[in-house]
Formats: sequence, C-alpha cells, structure tokens
Amino acid sequence: MSLKNKVALVTGAASGIGRSIALALARDGSKVLVTDRSDDGGHETVELILKAGGVARFCQLDAANPDDHHRAVAQANEHFGGLHIACNNAGISVGPGKIYAPVAEIALKDWDQMLAINLSGVFYGLRAQIPAMIAYGGGSIVNTASVMGQVAGQNLGAYVASKHGVIGLTKSAALDYAGKGIRVNAIGPGYIATPMLEHKDPKTLSGLAAKHPMGRLGLPQEIAELAAWLSSERASFVTGAYYPVDGGYLAQ
Ligand SMILES: NC(=O)c1ccc[n+]([C@@H]2O[C@H](COP(=O)([O-])OP(=O)(O)OC[C@H]3O[C@@H](n4cnc5c(N)ncnc54)[C@H](O)[C@@H]3O)[C@@H](O)[C@H]2O)c1
Repeated sequence: MSLKNKVALVTGAASGIGRSIALALARDGSKVLVTDRSDDGGHETVELILKAGGVARFCQLDAANPDDHHRAVAQANEHFGGLHIACNNAGISVGPGKIYAPVAEIALKDWDQMLAINLSGVFYGLRAQIPAMIAYGGGSIVNTASVMGQVAGQNLGAYVASKHGVIGLTKSAALDYAGKGIRVNAIGPGYIATPMLEHKDPKTLSGLAAKHPMGRLGLPQEIAELAAWLSSERASFVTGAYYPVDGGYLAQ
C-alpha cells in the first residue's frame, strides 16, 4: 500500500491505459478521482475499483476545457481532502476528418482537436493540479506521451507533434517545480491493446505488433505499473524523465 493516504486524479480513465492506471493507483492505496469525458466508462472504472476494495468516484472532465480541470481538482479536495498524484492521460489518436494524412494535408479541424486534447489538455491539467499539490505539500504528476513523442511515424503529424509537446512540457514543468516538491514525468507506451486500436483490422494489428522487438502489442496494465511506481515515493529522485514502455520499439 505504497500510496496509502494519497489522493489521485486520472484523466481519460474510462478506458484502456487510464482505467488500468486508476486501478493500479487504487490497488496501491490511493483514493482515485476517475475523470473522463465518457460518463458510462468512467462509472464502470469506479465500479471496478470499488469491487476490488478501493476508493474512487467519478468526475466528468473534457481535457480540452481548462475549467473542467479546476473543477476536478476542487472535487478531489472536497471529497478526498487533497491532491497528491495526477496522471494526465486523456488522448485521441485520430481526428474527425481525414484520419491519416501527410502534414500538408492535415485538416485544420483535426490539427486543432488533436492539439487541444493531447497537448493543451496536459497543460490545463498542470495549471490546475500544481498549485493544489504545492498547497498539500508536494506530489507526483505522470503525463502519458507515446513512442511518437520521441520518433515520428508517416502520416501521423498531428499526433506526433502533440506527443513531442507533452514530453517538452513535462521537462519544463519538472524544472519549474523541482524545488517545490513536485515531480513531473512522462511515460511512452508503444502500441498497446486498448480500444484506441479497435478500428484497425487484424492484418494492421499484427503489423503493429511486429514493429516491437518483443513481437506483440503491450497491455494497459504494463503501462499502469510504471505510472504507479512513478507516482510513489519509490521514485522520489525521478523527475523530468521520459520512460518508454514499448517492448523495445525505441531501441531499434
Ligand atoms: N493505445 C496505444 O497504442 C497508445 C500508444 C501510445 C500512447 N497512447 C496514449 O495513451 C493514452 C490513453 O490511450 P488509450 O490507448 O487508453 O485509449 P482509449 O481510447 O482506450 O482511452 C482514451 C480515453 O480518453 C478519453 N478521452 C478522449 N478524449 C477526451 C477528452 N477530450 N477529455 C477527456 N477524456 C477524453 C476517452 O473517452 C477514453 O476513455 C492517450 O493519451 C494515448 O495517446 C496510447
């Protein structure tokens, strides 16, 4: 129970990696504010935590809305008495228009939406979470980037830019608050078997699996274990770092 008496907030926790992070943080003893724009999935995550004997409640949050982040932090304080851990994980991989396109053909609405959720969403989270954490004596923030935060992929320009931005923002926030008891780190999943990849056909999925030297997709729980460790005091000297969890993808 390395997170006993801690209060955590996770964005994008209605599904996939965010749900697994919320479950791992609750398993390790923290009270978890599960947030997502999806009501149904968010309540399901809360149910899973309660069934496993943990403590959680749901707060609806659109990562692209700055006010929602302040509301979530206020709810964490009101219901659980503070905020010590935040995982800014909400993200999308495809926009509403042309899904995969070379940079000059990316639709403006796709670019705007991708950056608003994947990058500005993390910035809005940090703005709301950091002052609260300082007030509660410090904390740990884990931002979900991607292997696409370190390298690029063809026809993925907006996603790649958003995730490179998350890593840069993570390092900046880590430097700005290193003296104030706040650690800020980024995690970089390879391709992970979550609903984000559900629209892909089996041939594409096996092609993606083959991009990893371990020859398979990752599991959301494998990302969650790193997030839980970074959130705990076991990682007390770790800040401003980017950790891949990618079956060897970036080692090639
Ligand atoms: N699955 C992968 O292969 C993979 C790889 C690298 C990085 N990631 C990153 O991991 C994170 C989680 O992805 P996942 O694979 O679990 O996907 P997912 O689609 O299973 O879950 C994403 C969650 O984010 C929520 N969400 C989307 N837009 C939101 C918004 N505006 N406000 C609040 N919540 C919102 C969705 O409702 C969903 O619950 C994302 O940041 C994604 O970019 C995923």
